[in-house]
Amino acid sequence: MCGIFGVVLKGGRVAPLIHDGLKRLEYRGYDSVGFATLHSGTLQVRKDAGKIDEVVRSLRMDEMEGSIGIGHTRWATHGAPMMVNAHPHMDCDEKLAVIHNGVIENFMELKEELLNKGHNFRSRTDTEIIAHLIEEEMRGDIGFGEAVLTSLRRLEGSYAIAVISISDPGRIYCARYESPLVLGVSDKGTFCASDVPAMLPYTNQVVFLRNGEFASLDAEGFQIRRVQDGTPVQRELTEVTWSLEMAEKQGYPHFMLKEIYEQPSSLRGSLRLQRQYLDLLTAFLDRGEKLFLVAAGTSYHACIAASYMFSRLAKITTFPAISSEFIEQYGDSAAIDTVMLAVSQSGETYDTLKAIDHARMKAATVLGITNTVGSTLTRVSRAYIIQQSGPEIGVAATKTFTSQLMVLAQLALRLARTRGKLSQDEGDDFHDHLQMVPGYVEEVLKRHGEGIKALVEKYSRERLFVFLGRGISASTALEGRLKLLELTYVPSLAYPAGESKHGPISIVEEGVPVVFLCPRGDTRKEIVGSIMEMKARGARIISVCEEGDDDIIGLSDDVIEMPMGIPEALSSIPYVVPLQLFAYYLAVQKGLDPDKPRNLAKSVTVP
Ligand code: G6P
Repeated sequence: MCGIFGVVLKGGRVAPLIHDGLKRLEYRGYDSVGFATLHSGTLQVRKDAGKIDEVVRSLRMDEMEGSIGIGHTRWATHGAPMMVNAHPHMDCDEKLAVIHNGVIENFMELKEELLNKGHNFRSRTDTEIIAHLIEEEMRGDIGFGEAVLTSLRRLEGSYAIAVISISDPGRIYCARYESPLVLGVSDKGTFCASDVPAMLPYTNQVVFLRNGEFASLDAEGFQIRRVQDGTPVQRELTEVTWSLEMAEKQGYPHFMLKEIYEQPSSLRGSLRLQRQYLDLLTAFLDRGEKLFLVAAGTSYHACIAASYMFSRLAKITTFPAISSEFIEQYGDSAAIDTVMLAVSQSGETYDTLKAIDHARMKAATVLGITNTVGSTLTRVSRAYIIQQSGPEIGVAATKTFTSQLMVLAQLALRLARTRGKLSQDEGDDFHDHLQMVPGYVEEVLKRHGEGIKALVEKYSRERLFVFLGRGISASTALEGRLKLLELTYVPSLAYPAGESKHGPISIVEEGVPVVFLCPRGDTRKEIVGSIMEMKARGARIISVCEEGDDDIIGLSDDVIEMPMGIPEALSSIPYVVPLQLFAYYLAVQKGLDPDKPRNLAKSVTVP
């Protein structure tokens, strides 16, 4: 949940590169920042709480000397965001500096042991114990690299670390277990980072370090070894095809808006999946007796929508499950006949990986959908699909949600055809509509991209919103509410419309805005009834419905009209777009930064 970045250059100062790299990792955490560099036999560390640019400017970190260094942008897990808790952390003698992403679970025991041996701690973090452990190992008269390696063997929990020391001034040592770490090489030097965009301006030649691997970096390249026994590991470089422009804002004021507008093209990307992988996943799904769709956050909403698609098209029952609940809720019933389809944009979400571990232990088949090549999810799945959305920097998921739906819809269709559950014409018709979805989204952005601002203006002072939908639109409502909550912090509710009369309706009084998702389809009659119920309590109705749907339009105070002919099973993709825009513009209107909602991180790699 933090961003780490390290560079060894053949020449020149690393500090500006660290600054630039951390900016590209800011989505991983942004409550504190710190750099450490080695120069002329000295270790320099500057760090503080605050946003990257502010801290770098006030401590003049860009001016730090040295051609080797590490930097960290933090999202607090142990210890409040303040200077002493910011990384890098040092040993007692201030000879080495370490940065870390993850959680060391046995840090209390290790800390006590080190305190007894006379080490002095400055922070409340779990990370600082790593610095003192290495220092302690070095008292045994072993080299710095070996001391790092032996210290790593004592850690329990998750980590990606990078460490430098004046006793080995030309090298960065780094390692990972559960938290991600990528290495990169260029003609200027060697890099390590939590994620690829950090090093893209310098190289697209990378290696994704695997769990339990340790690497030694110098200006010429790197060597990888296994933490457990020190065995050398050979790994080929992978060429990353994401361009730097793809990972930057392209003139939009925020990544989130850029990513909302990228959806027609990211959805086209998600239509071009490799057939053999779709076939493989379909074959595994077809063999399963119990099918679980497991994810967190927005990806979980994609799973809820998918459960409607799988039922409607392939006539199979799937259970969408929140990954942090999976073990308690379904863990005991998972077995060899179980298939778990895990959906995770990052492929690194802790809770999702834990649910997967459990399923694997029960001999279930694990399948994955992710946006991240080389992520842990791809390595623990029997088969997986890369959703091809391109990098998403905004913390709130937008284009990756619609792409997940696109992949899941294709799987549902393929499974339906495999099982003979759709006629040829029905299957062809659905397939044709799938191809039209990027165009529908393009149309929605053209029609409403600007218009939504007026709606935001009208409702900008509301203190509560309610989102309702039936059928698959219940998942659209949940996702629309999540965007609003994440970005604007305005309390809001989302429910399947039919369930709203069993409680949520009590919150509705004169003037409360209720957003109804009402694509044309089987649920229309009931949704009209729900609108009437809400109107009778004085709600103001904002409807997202098909153009020309006069029944709904006549009942609504405000209407967002959608293109005609979108099948209900695919409606979540275009219908969520105006809700994404609404949340985005309301956040901007309130003076909030939509790319960095408070307390949230893009990738939650801790329990
Ligand atoms: C965090 C992010 C969400 C995301 C969720 C699951 O909470 O802020 O946007 O939906 O994690 O992430 P995943 O990478 O597993 O899809």
